[in-house]
Amino acid sequence: MKKVIIIGATSGIGYEVAKGYLKLGWHVGIAGRREEALKKLRATNPDKIEIQALDVTKEDAPEKLQLLIDKLGGMDLFLLSSGIGSQNIALKPDIEINTARTNVGGFIRLVTAAFHYFKEQGGGHLAVISSIAGTKGLGSAPAYSATKRFQNTYIDSLAQLSRMEKLNISFTDIRPGFVQTDLLKDRNYPLLMKPDHVASRIIHALNHKKRVAVIDRRYACIVFFWRMIPSWLWERLPVKSK
Ligand SMILES: NC(=O)c1ccc[n+]([C@@H]2O[C@H](COP(=O)([O-])OP(=O)(O)OC[C@H]3O[C@@H](n4cnc5c(N)ncnc54)[C@H](OP(=O)(O)O)[C@@H]3O)[C@@H](O)[C@H]2O)c1
Repeated sequence: MKKVIIIGATSGIGYEVAKGYLKLGWHVGIAGRREEALKKLRATNPDKIEIQALDVTKEDAPEKLQLLIDKLGGMDLFLLSSGIGSQNIALKPDIEINTARTNVGGFIRLVTAAFHYFKEQGGGHLAVISSIAGTKGLGSAPAYSATKRFQNTYIDSLAQLSRMEKLNISFTDIRPGFVQTDLLKDRNYPLLMKPDHVASRIIHALNHKKRVAVIDRRYACIVFFWRMIPSWLWERLPVKSK
């Protein structure tokens, strides 16, 4: 039976992807800080779900990932969905620093742990959920967009490192557009997608081992044109949600 571990599966996209893999008959390991939410999901399918509470910002997170791998009896696919983000037009430094602690510090901590595991094991599939927000710097959410760009570049780097070292690791960088989850709960965004729709597109991309997957086609189109906007013009555009 195939084994997937999803970090950040207590709500939103990670939660829906976990449910999707359960339907496909996979053995699923789920993690996040909210243990009650993990237990609740496990109760729906106790034979197929293993749980582990962990906080990606804490130093013991890699040990806890290893505990979860042991409970599951291995790991074929690792998916990091943990992340935080908020608009910060007032540019409060604590919001910016906290975002970086989770989306950069926590990201490095878990992704490197998964990389080392797959290196040791002789292969595997390492996937992360970044965002289209990394395409260009967003004035309304500086740390969020910058940390998402960091994630894109980090996975590019690991993909090259893996080839240099002749490791059998596949990488997928998943970049969703706006999704109706807790992350966006306080604001109105255009073209909001339902998390279950996004999860099924993500599973499709993972099954095809896509290297970069923008979810969905409408956002792929937006990103295509977005990239063509020159910096001098981009800086003058007031991009923000209501
Ligand atoms: N919603 C969107 O429009 C959108 C678009 C593009 C990309 N994304 C990305 O998708 C990912 C999932 O977000 P979502 O939209 O599904 O929001 P969400 O429902 O708020 O889910 C965030 C997940 O991250 C986990 N998490 C947060 N901080 C953590 C920490 N310190 N340690 C461990 N887990 C932590 C949360 O679990 P606990 O609270 O239980 O720890 C939760 O499971 C994020 O990386 C986000 O940037 C979202």
